[in-house]
Amino acid sequence: MSNNDFAARLADVGADVEATLDRLLGPLALSGEAARPARLLAAMRYVALDGGKRVRPFLFIEAARLFGCDGDGLLRAACAVEMVHCYSLAHDDLPAMDDDDLRRGKPSAHKAFDEATAILAGDALLTYAFDVMADAATHADPHIRCDLTLGLARASGLGGMAGGQQLDLDAERANTPLSHAEITQLQAMKTGALLRFAAEGGAMFANASNVDRVALGDYGRALGAAFQIADDILDAEGNEAAMGKRVAKDAGRNKGTLVGMLGLEAARALRDELAEEAVNALARFGEKAEVLVAAARFTASRAS
Ligand code: IPE
Ligand code: IPE
Ligand code: MG
Ligand code: MG
Ligand code: MG
Repeated sequence: MSNNDFAARLADVGADVEATLDRLLGPLALSGEAARPARLLAAMRYVALDGGKRVRPFLFIEAARLFGCDGDGLLRAACAVEMVHCYSLAHDDLPAMDDDDLRRGKPSAHKAFDEATAILAGDALLTYAFDVMADAATHADPHIRCDLTLGLARASGLGGMAGGQQLDLDAERANTPLSHAEITQLQAMKTGALLRFAAEGGAMFANASNVDRVALGDYGRALGAAFQIADDILDAEGNEAAMGKRVAKDAGRNKGTLVGMLGLEAARALRDELAEEAVNALARFGEKAEVLVAAARFTASRAS
């Protein structure tokens, strides 16, 4: 698949994701909700809509499509994953965390609103993600909905993203640099867990066999590792306008990165090796997996 074809496919799925998020974040209260306060809803929409590459929902959807699955429920599930990601960005940018004032080419949520509202918007997006995943409109089979909700929770919480964010903050304050294994673990948790779930979750949604699901989990794990190394490389040598976020911040903040530990050249080599590891995990699917193959390579070569 050519780069142009991949970009078109990513844009296409991105537009569907945008429309679904827009609908999910509408003003009407759902049954069981008392009301949707306008300022909080506006902040959630600010954080979730109009921006980002939409890589996680793309992986979820394309993994499910590998098994012939498609439709509105699939979009809803993919949007649940994206909502967790968007929440993580709003909180990651807070003054108490990375203290960044630019995200997706716009002022960060706490700048556009205020800190308390940015925190609440993140909280509500995270909670809403599980609401959407557990809703019968997402999947007809309650066992699959339950497995997906559990999988998303495990990827996001204590032993996943939130845990990884804690390790990331601990590294900033540590007196001695982290080891290679510690950085790998930190990154597998803060970034890798959700990307892995995105790919594996698509297979779960499609009720794929255990071996197929494991293959997509392996793909997501390797892609996730490559993804964060690429992010760290782009922090070191990327362009703020293309990235839509501040760059050249990690070194000064003492972030635990493989760029800091190995240098740029070795980090690039490792990133590319991991992307190929992701591609290899798809071998059993042959030509059918060409979009996911392209997604792994895009992860490594992206400029934003
Ligand atoms: C940025 O993720 C944060 C990391 C986990 C590295 P993305 O690079 O996917 O950000 P968006 O969604 O495209 O803005
Ligand atoms: C973020 O990692 C991981 C998250 C869970 C949000 P970074 O802190 O490197 O992400 P950016 O560079 O701010 O997007
Ligand atoms: Mg961070
Ligand atoms: Mg950050
Ligand atoms: Mg970064």
